[in-house]
This record gives sequence, C-alpha cells and structure tokens, in this order.
Amino acid sequence: SVAPMLTKLQQDCATPLPVLRHVADSMSDDIRAGLAVEGGSDLKMILSYVDSLPTGNEKGLFYALDLGGTNFRVLRVQLGGKEERVIDTEFEQVSIPQELMFATSEELFDFIASVLANFAQGEGGNFHLPPGRKREIGFTFSFPVKQTSIDSGILMKWTKGFAVSGTPGKDVVACLNEAMDRKGLDMRVSALVNDTVGTLAGARYWDDDVMVAVILGTGTNACYVERMDAIPKLQGQFSPPDRTIVNLEWGAFSKGLPLTVFDRDMDAASINPGEQIFEKTISGMYLGEIARRALLNMAEEGALFGDNVSKKLSTPFLLGTPHLSTMQQDSTYDLQTVGSILYDVAGIDSDLNSRKIVLEVCDTFVKRAGRLAGAGIVGILQKIEEDTKGTVFGKRTVVAMDGGLYERYPQYRRYLTEAVSELLGPEKSQNVVIEHSKDGSGIGAALLAATNSKQGKTRL
Ligand code: BG6
Ligand code: GLC
Repeated sequence: SVAPMLTKLQQDCATPLPVLRHVADSMSDDIRAGLAVEGGSDLKMILSYVDSLPTGNEKGLFYALDLGGTNFRVLRVQLGGKEERVIDTEFEQVSIPQELMFATSEELFDFIASVLANFAQGEGGNFHLPPGRKREIGFTFSFPVKQTSIDSGILMKWTKGFAVSGTPGKDVVACLNEAMDRKGLDMRVSALVNDTVGTLAGARYWDDDVMVAVILGTGTNACYVERMDAIPKLQGQFSPPDRTIVNLEWGAFSKGLPLTVFDRDMDAASINPGEQIFEKTISGMYLGEIARRALLNMAEEGALFGDNVSKKLSTPFLLGTPHLSTMQQDSTYDLQTVGSILYDVAGIDSDLNSRKIVLEVCDTFVKRAGRLAGAGIVGILQKIEEDTKGTVFGKRTVVAMDGGLYERYPQYRRYLTEAVSELLGPEKSQNVVIEHSKDGSGIGAALLAATNSKQGKTRL
C-alpha cells in the first residue's frame, strides 16, 4: 500500500526548524569560506565588478540581452534621469529552441545576435541614440561566469541542462562580439551580469533598501551587496567605492540538505552528477522530475494507480513544475484538474484517492524546496548582520525575488516566507521585506550598461 511510502517520503523530506537552522548557518559559513579564498567552499562567491549601483540619474538609450532562463529576451530602454526615470521600454521574448542547448557555441551566439539584430531594426518612437554613438548592451548571462572585468568574463561551466560545446573556458562577451561581427551588427557590451545581479540592480533603482536578490526559476541563485573589506580573497586590491555585488552561485550549495533516493537517482542520471545539488533540490527545472520519480516508485511498488503502471510515467522530465503548480491550485471537490493532468500528460486513469496522494507528493517536495530556499536567504542576511550589527535586522531590508517558480507557484512562495519568519522570529522578520521584482534583470542590466558606459557620462 502507498500510505507507509508516503509517510516515509514525508519523513525523508522533513525540514523542521533545526534542519533549517543548520542550512542557514552552513550557508553563512560557506559564504565566508568562499570570500576568504578562491575555491574555499561550494560557493564560488563571484565578484561582479559592479562598483556603482544605479542612482536614478542614468540617461539615454540602452539595450539588454537576457539569456539563461526559460526564455531569451531582448530589451531596449530609454532612460530619462531622476525626474522621468524610464521613459519607454520595449522587449521581445523567444523561447530557446531545445536543439540550441546542445548546439555549438557559434550556433548559440549566432542565434542571439540575429534576434538582437532583428529587434534593433525596429527602433523608433521614443528611442533615440545621439549621433555618433554606439548602441550599448547590458548582457545578462545566467551561468557561472568568472568575471574578469565589468564587461568580460569566462564561462566556467554550463548549468540547467545547457550543454553547448565550445563555450566553457571562453569569454562570453568575445563570443557575442564575434557573432555580432558575423552579422555586421555594430553594438557594444558595456556590462556583463548574472541574472541575480541584474535583478538586484533593477530593484535597487527604485528602492535603496534592496540588499539581496534571489532567482527561483529554471535554476536558482542569489547575490548581495558586500563591503570590499569583507572580501579577504581580494587581498586589499581595491580602491573606493567600498561596496560591490557578489554572486554566490548558491545552486552549488550542498550542506545539510534532506535528500531522498529520488534526488540521488535524478542526480546520477543528470548531465552534471554531483553538481548543483541545492539547485536540483529547490529549483523549477527539477521539482517535477523528482515528483515523477517518486510517483513512478509508488505506482510500481505500491499500486498507486492500480495494477496498470502507465509506461509514459517512466519518461524522464515528463512532469514539469508548472504541472505540479497547476495541480496544487485545483479546488474542485473531485480534483478534476489533477485527474486530467495525470491523464493528458501520463495517460493515467486515477481515482480521488490516488489524486490526493499525488497532491501530497507534490506538496512534500515543494514544501521542502520553499523552506530550504527560505533558509538560504536567512543564511545571507545573518552573514551581513554578523559583520555589521543592525544593518539588516535593525532597519528595513529588501530581498528582491524573480523567476517563474517564485512567480507562479503560490504554495512555494508561502513555504519560503514561512520558513524565513520561523527562522528569524517576529522581531527580526518585521524588517525583512521579500518582494517580487518582475523582470527587473533586463532593466537592471541596461542600467549597469549605462553606469559603465564607455562613452562618457550619458547625455540625451
Ligand atoms: C526573469 C529574469 O524574470 O527570470 C531573468 O528577467 C531570469 O533574468 C529569469 O533568468 C529566471 O526565471 P526562469 O523561470 O525563466 O528560469
Ligand atoms: C543557475 C546559474 C546561475 C543563475 C541561476 C538562476 O544556477 O548557474 O548563474 O543565476 O541558474 O538563473
């Protein structure tokens, strides 16, 4: 029978307060270790080379590219300075063709450059480039990149199922420049940023209290504003200004996570076994797949759906996290939506009882994921607070959130917020604002391109 299997699963995935606390503390420790020396912990603690955050005074026309989530986006924004802020913005979005994820580096960057070229042609209306100037780009590239300056960086490895050949070890801005050359496109990358960094910059443009940004989407990651003198691995080689943004690459975190046999099997079958364990436990690319594995096991060993086990259910990545979310929003008394998703997606005939169990399984993994993400956030906040008492919990502090999982999975969001409050207690959590900053990374990257413009201070 399935009942004991479900109980066992819930026990294996449990995240009571001591487990959360351990994760939060390990996150803080790993942050410190990663800041101390290169390679000091699972967390790469990548320096963004961002040394000035948007102020609101930025002016002019800027472009942004956003690669690394479910969609590839191009965007242009006309910035009008303190009074007018964002005069106008336009964007175009395409989903990344599946085959491009396994293509060659040239093919991937040619695709990016051609979407950009096409989009740039439609410029008009409120968008103006002063004569004699090049169009500048903020490039959001959401993979682990070893930045070598604000406008260059080397791809360390792919994550999130990308397996494009030839890019790791290369400067991704150079790759893009070469593709733009091949297209005869004369634009210039002025800032290369991670999506977390773009989100932080975009949110900070409107709100000075933003200190941390977190992406919960296909993949997951976080960044925060750090003091230069709290980064020992810099060995004093910095000049004022004294703060920068550090990208944790927290997807690689691995300590104290309650994992199941389904997590281990999924990891072993993945294209990057042993890597990105936190990401595999809490992000959108994987939640549906973990649930599918658990349901298949219950179908095979516990006759969850009766004697017939649907063959389809053996297909890797058959269930997507959006399916889980849609099922969990089902409020019909006989769980009709759950039934039709099981039927349409997996060819499964289900009764009310099995549908309830399916929901319990989804909830078990989503609860674990949301709560662990919350613990990760607390790990960052408490690290900053430990260094400078009162700077986080003694005043309003904003955590900017983005990504499809956070946006479109209400239960996930609730579990995350609950975990943060449980860990911090009423007094401290009062000052912590967790805020959705929708698609902020595009504007954020454009703003950083403006701040780092090579063409002098922008004038309209
Ligand atoms: C978007 C951000 O809103 O969320 C991107 O603009 C980010 O920069 C993305 O990569 C992540 O979400 P998903 O769900 O598309 O992976
Ligand atoms: C993956 C990438 C990271 C990115 C995150 C969210 O973890 O390695 O750079 O920020 O996904 O998109």
